[in-house]
This record gives sequence, C-alpha cells and structure tokens, in this order.
Amino acid sequence: MGRSAIVLAAGLGTRMKSKQPKVMHPVCGKPMISHILDELQLLGLEQVVVVVGPQQDEVAAVVGQRAQLAVQDRQLGTGHAVMAALPYLRADSETVVVLYGDAPLVRAQTVNRLLEAKTLPQVAACVLTARVADPRGLGRVIMGVADRVVRIVEEKDATPEEEAIDLINTGIYAFATPLLKMALQNLHPDNAQGEYYLTDTLSYLANNVGQVLGVEVADPREIASVNDRVQLAYVEHLMRERLWQYWALQGVTIVDPEHTYIGADVKIGQDTVLMPGSLLEGNTVIGEDCVIGPESRLVNARVASGARIEKSVVLDSFVDVGARVGPFAYVRPGSEIGPEARIGDFVEIKNTRVGTGTKISHLAYVGDADVGEGVNVGCGVITVNYDGERKHHTVIGNGSFVGSNVNLIAPVRVGAGAYVTAGSTITDDVPEDAFAIARSRQVTKENYVKAWKSHRATEKLEKGEQ
Ligand code: UD1
Ligand code: CA
Repeated sequence: MGRSAIVLAAGLGTRMKSKQPKVMHPVCGKPMISHILDELQLLGLEQVVVVVGPQQDEVAAVVGQRAQLAVQDRQLGTGHAVMAALPYLRADSETVVVLYGDAPLVRAQTVNRLLEAKTLPQVAACVLTARVADPRGLGRVIMGVADRVVRIVEEKDATPEEEAIDLINTGIYAFATPLLKMALQNLHPDNAQGEYYLTDTLSYLANNVGQVLGVEVADPREIASVNDRVQLAYVEHLMRERLWQYWALQGVTIVDPEHTYIGADVKIGQDTVLMPGSLLEGNTVIGEDCVIGPESRLVNARVASGARIEKSVVLDSFVDVGARVGPFAYVRPGSEIGPEARIGDFVEIKNTRVGTGTKISHLAYVGDADVGEGVNVGCGVITVNYDGERKHHTVIGNGSFVGSNVNLIAPVRVGAGAYVTAGSTITDDVPEDAFAIARSRQVTKENYVKAWKSHRATEKLEKGEQ
C-alpha cells in the first residue's frame, strides 16, 4: 500500500527552557517520541522517518532501529522539516502521515481514521482538526463547504476574526505523497515567523490540486500538545488518567487514582489493589491479587501473584508468589525474593536471592548473597560484602538460623541447618548443622557497681562535693 509516516522532532523546544530536546521529556515515564512510535507501530506502516535536529543523539538513541532518521540542519519551520525527510521516503510511498513529536496522546485508531478519509476520491490531503475551549497558540482551521479545508492560519498571522475560531489544527495529516512533494516546492516563508509552514501546503493543494478534508477528532484530549512545561504537566495528567482508567477496566482496584502513578509500559494483573502513593515505573509487571502500597515505588520490578509490598522501594528485582516486602524495605537491583518470603522493616537487600519462606524481618543488610529456603535472618544481621575494594559473596544454607546482630564477613558460607549465635562476627565458613559462636565471653563482676557507688560517696564526703 506504500504508507509512510514522518514524525517531526527537530524543533528547538525553546519554550520548554530545557537542556533536553522537547520530545525526550517523559510522559508517564516514557519519552514523548516513544509514545508516538509505539502507536504508529500498531498501524503496520511500511516506513517511519523521524526528523531530528543536529546533535540530537539522545533522540537518535531512543528511536534506534524503529525508524529512519533524517536530520534537519536548521530549524526553519515545520514545512522545512518535512522537506528534510523527503529523500528518505520510499519510491513507492503513496500516502504519508505527518505528525508532530510533541503530541504524545494521539492514538493509532485516530491516525487510521485520517488514513481512511485519505482514500476517498479526489482527496489530496486530510488534516485532523479539533474543537477546543482554549485555542490559544494553535493554528486555526478555515473551513469551506462540507468537510473541506480552505487554509490554516497560525495565531501570529491571524486577524481578530480568525483568532476567534475554535477549530484548531492538531498537526496530524495524511497526504498523497507525490502531491505533498509538489506542494512543498511551492512553500514560501512569507509570514510573521519567517518560517516554512507545513500548513501552507494545505491551502496550496486545496487551491491547485484537489480536496483537503478536515477530520474532527472525537476526543480533543487526545491531541493536546506540549510547548512548555505547564502543558507537559497537563499532558502527563491526561496520560495518567488514560492509564489508570485502562487498568481499572481490566480489573485492578486503584483506591486513589490522583495519587497513583502507573508508567506507560507497566502491566498489572486482575484483582490487584494499588493503594495511594504507589509508583509503578519502567517495565514493572505485577501479578494477580497483589497489594501494592501505600507509598511504594517499583521500578522494573516483577511481582508474582499474591505478593504484598508496603511502603517500600523495589528496583530491578523479582518478588515471588505470596512474598511480603515492607513496610520500609529497600530491595535493590538484582534481587529475587522467594515465594512466601518475608522482608520486613528497615531491611536492605541487594543483588541477593532469598529462598522460599525465608524471613529477614527487621533491620538487616543482605547484599551479594544467596540465602536458602526457610532461613531465619535475625534482627541487625549484616553481610559484610565490601572490603573497600571488591564485593564478596555470602551463602546462607537452607533451614539455617542467623541470630541477631551477626556480621557475616564475606566471602563466607553458612551451611544448611547451621546455627549462628547472636552477636557473632563470622569470618570462617560454618559447616552444615554446626553451631557457631564468635563473640568474647561475658565477664560478670558481682556487686561491682554497688562497691563503686559507695566508694564515690565516701570520696564526695571527703572533698565536700555536692
Ligand atoms: C504547529 C502548527 C499549528 C498547530 C500546532 C499543533 C505549523 C506552522 N503550525 O504549531 O498549526 O496548531 O502545531 O500542535 O505547522 N519542528 C521541526 N522543525 C522545525 C520546526 C518544528 O522538526 O523547524 C517540529 C517540532 O519539534 C515539533 C513540531 O515540529 O514537534 C511542531 O513545531 P512547533 O514549533 O511546536 O509548532 P507549533 O507552533 O506548536
Ligand atoms: Ca507544538
């Protein structure tokens, strides 16, 4: 069918006041440009070209293999940006969709409506329009008879009458590829901003070639775009609402959507409950019947069914079926919390595998360790994994018991079924089923305090102290 897309992302984004390119700003944890590429992917187009500015390596990295990159050397306007993409268009491209990289809420089905309208006879181009309460800053669409667009006027070039129009240009178009090329050759920067406006191709086509149709978007929230960070916050709000409503309809209970943050790539199972203050980020995947929060942050976490994570942070780790984490636990990257295991308050786990049913209930640091099944790690246990230069591994065998306040000086192994007494500093391996005690013996001095107190009392009397 020869369908292409061009995404414009080379603009300077001056109004963002940012060191980052505008399209790299995340919306629900994902760069704006990625949202658009994800939607376009659903359409199965033959090709996608992204127009970037010079030195926009970050954008190029995010686009990766998903699209071709065209560089617009100087930012001379949206029409000029599309010109930069033309050399990349396939020779058999019949239709080309043009979108702006700063409107990340657009859905594939909406672009598809535009593509369908484009197939009607005599149609040279279609533009997605929207009727909005506040058209400020946007191009106004001047309609003719029926659905025909006469032209688009930018706000800076508009007369007061034109400014009063509430039908705006969303910046999403479908063109007959050869006609777009022809129209671009006839663009002139004779406007208030001295730019090559892509919008001027529409009046050219309407006047000289064929019909230009306006297709009004059903839900104007879908075309909100980002020029500054106030709009970024608004778009974030809209995307967040879309995401929580989606998951709520999939059977997830979200107790307080205003205080719950679900990243765009997160997945959540049925009957899971998200309590207020839950932040689910990155590629986090949550199973069924879990309870997350209140106040938990999960980044690239995998959580199996029935797990409970309360007031805790879990980064790049796996929490297995029925495990309980928190309150106040910190599970750092590379960890695996086994089925039914318990990670309690003020416990930090890093790069550690914790076996089934193991309990690390309070105030412990377990890093670079392999902890077996059914182990009890007492309060205040520390794996001493760092010698100032390198990290070392600790192994704690199945069914062992590590008493309170034990230091395990890695590399070290505690065998299965072993028992390490409270307060021990373990420097040597403890064999299976052994008992290890590594602390100095207690010295008890009978009546020592009493004698000392009476000595002090005599001294005070002699010296006349109070
Ligand atoms: C544009 C439209 C306006 C529309 C609005 C919708 C034009 C002339 N105006 O205005 O009618 O209502 O979008 O959001 O098209 N870009 C480049 N190279 C450039 C200039 C821009 O790649 O030289 C890219 C930007 O990165 C951005 C997009 O094009 O993603 C739109 O540019 P922007 O400056 O935001 O246009 P608006 O003023 O919003
Ligand atoms: Ca814009």
